[in-house]
Amino acid sequence: NYYAILMAGGVGSRFWPVSTPEFPKQFHDMLGTGETLIQKTFDRLSQLIPKENILILSHEKYRDLLLEQLPELTEEQIILEPEMRNTAPCILYASMKVKKKNPDALMIVAPSDHWIEDEVQFVANLQKAFDACEKERVLMTLGILPTFPNTGYGYIEYDRLDTNPIKKVVQFREKPDYITAKKFIQKRNFLWNSGIFIWSVATILKAFKDFQPEMYELFEAGEPAFNTKEEKQFIDQTYYRAENISIDYAVMEKAENVFVLPATFDWNDLGTWGSLYDKLPKDENENAVVNANVFLENATNNIVRTDQGKKVVIDGLCDYIIVDKKDVLLIYPKKKEQDIKTVVAKMNEKK
Ligand code: GDD
Ligand code: MG
Repeated sequence: NYYAILMAGGVGSRFWPVSTPEFPKQFHDMLGTGETLIQKTFDRLSQLIPKENILILSHEKYRDLLLEQLPELTEEQIILEPEMRNTAPCILYASMKVKKKNPDALMIVAPSDHWIEDEVQFVANLQKAFDACEKERVLMTLGILPTFPNTGYGYIEYDRLDTNPIKKVVQFREKPDYITAKKFIQKRNFLWNSGIFIWSVATILKAFKDFQPEMYELFEAGEPAFNTKEEKQFIDQTYYRAENISIDYAVMEKAENVFVLPATFDWNDLGTWGSLYDKLPKDENENAVVNANVFLENATNNIVRTDQGKKVVIDGLCDYIIVDKKDVLLIYPKKKEQDIKTVVAKMNEKK
């Protein structure tokens, strides 16, 4: 009764120009391993979860990309949203569909674009979490040891006297401001939320009913149509009415029965060019090069990527992102990587 819900609706705009709304980062081989991020995630999960129980949630426009990259998927495994409304509505919708298939299902809800190298540890952690959810009605998340006050993550506080391998969560705080994040890190009994959740379908549906009653009722009204021909019509008419909110704010911050398993695998959410740079092998001057034939002098700490293995000559450039695509060339300081998202939005406005 193991199921997985893979979320693949994001656009990854800070990875522009490689990641675009037509072809977002989860469908790219960001690390040069020969597999795209979503293919890697699917393989990782299928070590514990029957392939036919892995459901992918995404926008209608990515249907063809999904089928192309994961040809073993049946139509039934692809759940398409007419509009992105963030993670809470899509998790609720998918959970109701899973419940109709199997009311005893235990599920992992995971992003499709994270980097996890140690698959053995990942599978061991997942098994532990499933076992805990089998025994008790708990909402589990996998926690990551924080390294700096990143304000883009959720923070999880546990009791510092708690020596259990799975810890009761005292507080879940989504995206705190910088000062708060810094305070949390100094306290040392905080973890980052990996965004990977494990629970039984009954437990998560109960949590939605308790904390998001409106959203719950909205989808409950269509539930008889789920997994039938009438489902699409209901979703097309209803989905846009669901509140645009993430699972972190909608449920995790509010629930009492939240537990965290500190992950024993290394994790990176590949959110920005800098996080990709951290993961890539570097030359003696700390340059990371993907798919390029480089000639570098007085160049350090750069990430260089081209589409066709182009020759790239650089002199006197440090801490830059250099990305060459057929129709776009990006040369951008690494320390401003967060701004790429805003720049892309501004350019789209002008169009
Ligand atoms: N199908 C679908 N539909 N997927 C979605 C949608 C949607 O409407 N919105 C987001 N996703 C997918 C994204 O593609 C991503 O893989 C995942 O859900 C999480 O969404 P993000 O938008 O990347 O969330 P975040 O990075 O701001 O925060 C979450 O992840 C952090 C770790 O990376 C939170 O869970 C944080 O607490 C966590 O620390
Ligand atoms: Mg993210």
